[in-house]
Amino acid sequence: MPAIVIIGAQWGDEGKGKATDLLGSAVDYVVRYQGGNNAGHTVVINTPTGKEKYALHLLPSGILSPNVVPVIGNGVVIDLAVMFKELDGLIERGIDVSKLKVSANAHVIAPYHVLQDKVVERFLGKRQIGTTGRGIGPTYADKVSRIGIRIQDLYDESILSQKVEAALATKNELFVKIYNRRAVEANQVTETLLSFADRLKPYVTDTSLLLNNALTENKTILLEGGQGTLLDVDHGTYPFVTSSNPVAGGAATGSGIGPNKISTVIGIIKAYTTRVGAGPFPTELFDQNGKELRDVGGEFGTTTGRERRCGWYDAPVARYAVRVNGITDFFLTKLDVLSGFDQIPACVGYEIDGKVHSELPMTQTEFHHAKPVYETLPGWKSDITGARSFSDLPKTAQDYVKFLEEQSGAPISAIGVGQARDATIVLRDLSK
Ligand code: IMP
Repeated sequence: MPAIVIIGAQWGDEGKGKATDLLGSAVDYVVRYQGGNNAGHTVVINTPTGKEKYALHLLPSGILSPNVVPVIGNGVVIDLAVMFKELDGLIERGIDVSKLKVSANAHVIAPYHVLQDKVVERFLGKRQIGTTGRGIGPTYADKVSRIGIRIQDLYDESILSQKVEAALATKNELFVKIYNRRAVEANQVTETLLSFADRLKPYVTDTSLLLNNALTENKTILLEGGQGTLLDVDHGTYPFVTSSNPVAGGAATGSGIGPNKISTVIGIIKAYTTRVGAGPFPTELFDQNGKELRDVGGEFGTTTGRERRCGWYDAPVARYAVRVNGITDFFLTKLDVLSGFDQIPACVGYEIDGKVHSELPMTQTEFHHAKPVYETLPGWKSDITGARSFSDLPKTAQDYVKFLEEQSGAPISAIGVGQARDATIVLRDLSK
């Protein structure tokens, strides 16, 4: 059976948690393959007593489905204090978390990574990236520099303390001499990390072996990307990106399965666009429309609470996401947020230095100068949250969706029309 990848097709926060959760009952494993607690999935579940809202940052959203094995893959960076806090929160609400698997090869976010993230951002001043301040970038930097700490190191005390000392040897020089901070005590860090080891042990697994065995047994695996395509360190708006590979290719390296096992790539895309942090964003709105999108869409970060920058749908971004991820299906989310507008512009190309481009330009400099070329469609001005089939949508809403599909380069196979789990129009069974 197949591996299905879910990725964000824009700058993150597309509503991936809803899509993952929707598929949760049809899959056997849900895997996170990159990022860390910089992500934020909000999942709303209808229960007999009302709506239950869960905000997950590190754990795979499949953890809420009783029959799913949730997996944190080797490509993820883990803040253990955050992970256990999140687990405790779920346990308190009666969720069974015992099936969680954590890769022995995943890297650990140590306290000095969080410190480094914050001081470096402060030092960058006007040039800062606007990171989530969770230590993500410095942890990936250490991984690539080969001075990182992995989950398995927690079970070899002597190796762990040597690695922490090695990492801190140069970092402390920087903290003290450049950033004007106190040196970090290696012993203290080692002790903090060791304090999680016993509780963590039952979860630690060779997750690549586990997932490959599962595929051999015909199980279905859902690989859940954090952030989004335009935040990818290779394919995003560098340097205003995260430090990992959210794109579909990252799902193979970040989980230890072969790329030929992936049969479906679902691109989650909002019916408009948002972005958190700094960096280019051609369709950004600074007017009342932008404010309306933010207010109606609840566009405030799940992780940091920051206001998200909001703008109209950007079809060149969607086409780019199809290209670099191999998207087979789009899941269009939050269509209901547009219900109050008389007219809805959608960007179909960019004007850059007098020339019209239908694709993202090759260079960041050009992208910074990109002015959106819009086509404007009529709105529908009615509540669509009760729609459960395409024909339930008003004609103008149907036309808007069809227009986006024509412009974006892949079929729209599901449409989110409200916050709740069942507020979705499914046009194709995405688990097959
Ligand atoms: P970092 O991932 O904390 O290093 O932040 C790098 C950039 O990615 C910043 O612009 C963040 O705002 C952005 N970012 C990281 N995670 C998310 C996310 O889950 N949604 C949206 N933006 C994110």
